Amino acid sequence: MTTISVVGLGKIGLPLAAQFASKGMTVIGCDTLPDVVTSVNAGRSHIREEDGLDEAVASAVAAGRLSATTDTTDAVKRSDVVVVIVPLMVGPDRAMDYRNLDAATRSIGRGLRPGTLVIYETTLPVGTTRRRLGPMLQEASGLEPGTRFHLAFSPERLYAGRIFADLRKYPKIVGGVDAASTEAAVAFYRSVLDAEVWPVENTETAEFAKLAETTYRDVNIALANQLALYASSRDVNVSEAFRAANSQPFSHIHRPSLGVGGHCIPVYPHFLLGDAADGELSLVRDGRTTNDAMAKVGLRELERLLGGLRSRRILVLGASYRENVKELAFSTAFPVVDMLHKAGAEVLLADPHFADGELQAFEAEVVDDLDRVASKGVDAIVVQAWHEEFRDLDWGRFGGLKVVLDGRGAVDPEAVRQAGASYIAIGISETRAASPK
Ligand SMILES: NC(=O)c1ccc[n+]([C@@H]2O[C@H](COP(=O)([O-])OP(=O)(O)OC[C@H]3O[C@@H](n4cnc5c(N)ncnc54)[C@H](O)[C@@H]3O)[C@@H](O)[C@H]2O)c1
Repeated sequence: MTTISVVGLGKIGLPLAAQFASKGMTVIGCDTLPDVVTSVNAGRSHIREEDGLDEAVASAVAAGRLSATTDTTDAVKRSDVVVVIVPLMVGPDRAMDYRNLDAATRSIGRGLRPGTLVIYETTLPVGTTRRRLGPMLQEASGLEPGTRFHLAFSPERLYAGRIFADLRKYPKIVGGVDAASTEAAVAFYRSVLDAEVWPVENTETAEFAKLAETTYRDVNIALANQLALYASSRDVNVSEAFRAANSQPFSHIHRPSLGVGGHCIPVYPHFLLGDAADGELSLVRDGRTTNDAMAKVGLRELERLLGGLRSRRILVLGASYRENVKELAFSTAFPVVDMLHKAGAEVLLADPHFADGELQAFEAEVVDDLDRVASKGVDAIVVQAWHEEFRDLDWGRFGGLKVVLDGRGAVDPEAVRQAGASYIAIGISETRAASPK
């Protein structure tokens, strides 16, 4: 019987633990937060927004296959496999903060026995598993990676909110510090996942694959933003043009937007840039600058249409970085609200995913009753995260509404125009909106 420690019971770790338990493994979840451990031991998931997770945790705990502890070292002593999924934090300036990961690694090292398989799934800069974490494990355990225990990296590629579906779909990429480690990790994942398991040459290749796939998306969005801005002054219907272009199977142009948020896409390019030489990865650097500038570009157009922002009542829909999640990390809502506030606008912010007091970091009046806002009227609405809860919104209800700035390219422009307001988005200006179809 295989025993697995999952270190870090967050949005990704807890579903993983439940998945491994559902395959008949004995799973010990490790977290530094006592509340998380207590709740998991009681059979409850503290992660919302994940279909099937409540039931999966409840049934795994009831069957005696999942338990949790704050004592990682003790859990590792009892485990054959250790899967690490604690975040590598980054500061507002994108500087990396290894404290969580190092602390978890030392705790694991102290419990490590010969023959154990340790797999890091946390997204890491290239070379981190072999050069930073391996030596740390060796120092704490006295065991050499590769020779005395197996060490591998396997990037987590799941999308929060649909993790169990993705676990069945996305190939699991695996690279070890040596061939035996790769082989052990491949065998492990084949025993707990239904998806294809895909070995690569080494840990560096596996680390880089994740950074390449996420950086591709950031640069792609930057390209979409630049193309959209170019097209906007040339009588092009940008969304139609991109849809048409993407009908060619080699073209995958993403959607222009006010900005790229979350823990991953705007952050991982910096994992690459962190050790890039002058002149290397200039596209990646430029993509970041382009995407970070879009909130300003969108608000400048809004300001033009409103004839200034001072004293305008502006409702921002969605504080989260994207739709249907409760997550503020690097959300474009921060620069949007900040710029509106500094320009003297009266800023209202609505996000049904957050409870009272959870949006205090914003210089905005947090509103939960959109009917009240609608009856008092607003000058403009900025769509930052197009949550499911907003989809039935009747723009016509908002007295005085002049402009909707669609930050995600997700709103139906016709519905906005029928309500007598102008629709704008990155690459779609009022001129375009007003021109005949
Ligand atoms: N969330 C996503 O959408 C996503 C997608 C793909 C990959 N990832 C990867 O997964 C990682 C984890 O993401 P998440 O969303 O699950 O994070 P999270 O913040 O939801 O959870 C992390 C958990 O780790 C725990 N933790 C912190 N330090 C610890 C330690 N020393 N020992 C034990 N537990 C510790 C925290 O208490 C927390 O419960 C990310 O850093 C990223 O590399 C995340």
